[in-house]
Amino acid sequence: MASNFSNTTARASTAGAVRSRIVGVGSALPTRCVSNQELALELARKGVETSDEWIVARTGIEQRWLAEPDVSSSMLGTQAAQAALRSAGVAADDIDLVICATSTPDFIFPSTACLIQKALGITGGAAFDVQAVCSGFVYALATADGLIRSGVARRALVIGAEVFSRILDWNDRSTCVLFGDGAGAVVLTAAQKPGILASRLHSDGRHEHILRAAGNVCGGAVKGHPFLTMDGQAVFKLAVNVLNDVARETVEAAGLTINDVNWLIPHQANVRILTATARKLGIAPERVVSTVAQHANTSAASVPLALSVAVEDGRVKSGDLVLMEGVGGGFTWAASLVRM
Ligand code: ACO
Repeated sequence: MASNFSNTTARASTAGAVRSRIVGVGSALPTRCVSNQELALELARKGVETSDEWIVARTGIEQRWLAEPDVSSSMLGTQAAQAALRSAGVAADDIDLVICATSTPDFIFPSTACLIQKALGITGGAAFDVQAVCSGFVYALATADGLIRSGVARRALVIGAEVFSRILDWNDRSTCVLFGDGAGAVVLTAAQKPGILASRLHSDGRHEHILRAAGNVCGGAVKGHPFLTMDGQAVFKLAVNVLNDVARETVEAAGLTINDVNWLIPHQANVRILTATARKLGIAPERVVSTVAQHANTSAASVPLALSVAVEDGRVKSGDLVLMEGVGGGFTWAASLVRM
């Protein structure tokens, strides 16, 4: 899915401080779309009871895209990156930094970012993964912004790519209905004007137990519990509070107010979290980009996927002020305020 976001060729200032700017957006989804009704039928065959009504009422999710067994995070991430490069009018050769946010990497190592780098034919610069679960894309964007501002890189691909379907326990109805697979990417380049106005990143490991996939590979065998587990109500409460706090903190750091924000793009976990966050912030529902109905929760891919959809359908335009927010396992949370 290529974005039609207008192309900009940005040049670093020789006089002022270097900043970074998003000049291209893209995304990718697997080919298999599974509606709630289809999923409920599939689960019923193995004795797991759920319904479209329950899923829609509690989460707002109507469908999810699930990767075929031979499709990996790096493949989806590569497709999203290619779409972002096309939208930016930037050649893969011009990229000197690839950061991939993922909790479902292809391998223990090398990083998914290195695999994407190889697939794109990029042979220089740096490539590494960021692991901050559903906050991963915002963490990666802030990291790339910092590396561009400090002169380490000039053109970055920042990607969120996930195949969360691989770490779901399909016998646990309280989690398996919530997630999907996908990828989103942006091209970030050095620029005279920001771009990324401010970012704020947070984590508090004391909450690590409320959302986790506490497994490992040891001596060739799986150790621990390699499937996602969650205390849904604890996650809900914490998510709404921290998303409110970090949104205000980030906007204030940029010397702006919540009223200046044209679009809120929060992590797409659950429509009730999105609605409650927007209400707390005093942001009208029509200024919130919500793709959770179409994609379900795609973890680190959810924010760039939603951004890509909103750029493609013409809602987010050049010059708009966009507040992106992530929240997820760790517990982690983060926000970036971006002038498109
Ligand atoms: N289908 C039908 N019934 C279900 C399902 C299902 N898929 N899942 C749970 N239930 C049942 C439970 O068994 C329970 O039944 P009982 O009352 O007979 O015991 C009942 O529904 C209520 O279960 P709760 O867990 O209390 O439901 P709740 O209203 O809390 O909703 C949910 C669960 C949607 C997960 C909610 O807690 C939530 O939105 N949490 C936020 C977490 C979230 O969105 N996480 C996404 C990942 S985290 C992240 O990305 C940051």
